[in-house]
Amino acid sequence: MNVLLLGSGGREFTFAWKLVQSPLLTRLFIAPGNGGTHHFGTNVDLNGEDFEAVKSFVLREKIDMVVVGPEAPLVAGIADFIQSDPSIKHITVIGPDKQGATLEGSKDFAKAFMKRHRVPTAAYETFTAATLEKGYQFLETLKAPYVLKADGLAAGKGVLILNNLQEAKDELRAMLQDAKFGEASSSVVIEEFLDGIELSVFVLTDGKNYVILPEAKDYKRIGDGDTGLNTGGMGAVSPVPFAQGEFLHKVEERIVKPTIAGIQKDGYNYKGFVFIGLMNIKGDPFVIEYNVRMGDPETEVVLPRLQSDLLELFDLCGKERLDQAILKLNPDTALTIMSVSGGYPGSYPKGRIIEGLDVPTDGLVIHAGTTKLGGKIMTSGGRVLACTAFGKSIKEAQKKAYHMTSLISFDGQYFRKDIGNDLL
Ligand code: AMP
Ligand code: GLY
Repeated sequence: MNVLLLGSGGREFTFAWKLVQSPLLTRLFIAPGNGGTHHFGTNVDLNGEDFEAVKSFVLREKIDMVVVGPEAPLVAGIADFIQSDPSIKHITVIGPDKQGATLEGSKDFAKAFMKRHRVPTAAYETFTAATLEKGYQFLETLKAPYVLKADGLAAGKGVLILNNLQEAKDELRAMLQDAKFGEASSSVVIEEFLDGIELSVFVLTDGKNYVILPEAKDYKRIGDGDTGLNTGGMGAVSPVPFAQGEFLHKVEERIVKPTIAGIQKDGYNYKGFVFIGLMNIKGDPFVIEYNVRMGDPETEVVLPRLQSDLLELFDLCGKERLDQAILKLNPDTALTIMSVSGGYPGSYPKGRIIEGLDVPTDGLVIHAGTTKLGGKIMTSGGRVLACTAFGKSIKEAQKKAYHMTSLISFDGQYFRKDIGNDLL
């Protein structure tokens, strides 16, 4: 099979690393890829949101499958575009159609979906500038902390959690009337605060059947001890010790099954990942959000634990035969540590040379924001690279991953020193 993988981050590096292990793969193209993905295939200068360019490329290179890493091309309708064009509709797309992608693209749509299909989640209401007063009244019925969510995609910044009622009202007005998050906050979901421990569960579905991939815990804040600004994710661990057995059984029965049945009932063309952000509240799972792609950096620990052939899983997914999939997992712990550019998640420099990449380790050095220039690997993004290691225990995986991280250096390199500590 010839595969085109869209994206450029650590998630896509890990997909590429895993896909080349498949005997079913003929050629792999990564668009645009990064400074490490050329080890697994050909990086191509192609924008996944330029559908006509994608069409010319897949025809020219006889692509059989398009794997979509990030959400943006999905929300823009890349699956619908491919499936509605007779010359390319035979191509399997891993990623849902536009309607399915709205589960990530609109918080209000996702909440209405959960309500309709009885998926446990926080109570909520949605407001617009025209119903601002009603929004204030709704806030008065809730207790602190107050959770406000811009309806649309806001680059992970659209969720505010506020401890004070007046502050919550002011922010609601800023979002609705002053377009604090642009068009994304023209509608705002206000929801009940869920007090628990967070984790993510990943499902691959063909729209009818599904397989549940390993769960993971992400570390979202920039600073040790979960302090400071939100980032894309500073590290991840899988498996998550507080989410085993009985809890995962509840997740499957109460959340995964009604979600997949809802996708089928609502008639989305959904062949791809459902990333379920969950809160574990005293042993019961509640959905915080859906994403329609894999998580990053969660992929950097989830896929290394997968022993099954990923391309075979994708092929079964395309054929709506995921009921035949056999999932083999490594029971050991995988832990990843993200090294970021100094200044991230604010502004940061690019073009810093990365040293130490050639030192052999028994883990996986995953490129994210890197680029290859004149034979040198340089930084080109905020999240630069992730070091994933395995261990029989979290402690062992942590020790190895920190050792790997210490071998790599670039000017301004920063990483959290406490990934996994809360799980020890
Ligand atoms: P989201 O973009 O929906 O993932 O929200 C960002 C983060 O805000 C989540 O990862 C949670 O840590 C937090 N969060 C979102 N909704 C709630 C909620 N209802 N209760 C508590 N925390 C929440
Ligand atoms: N790590 C969180 C995300 O991918 O959205």
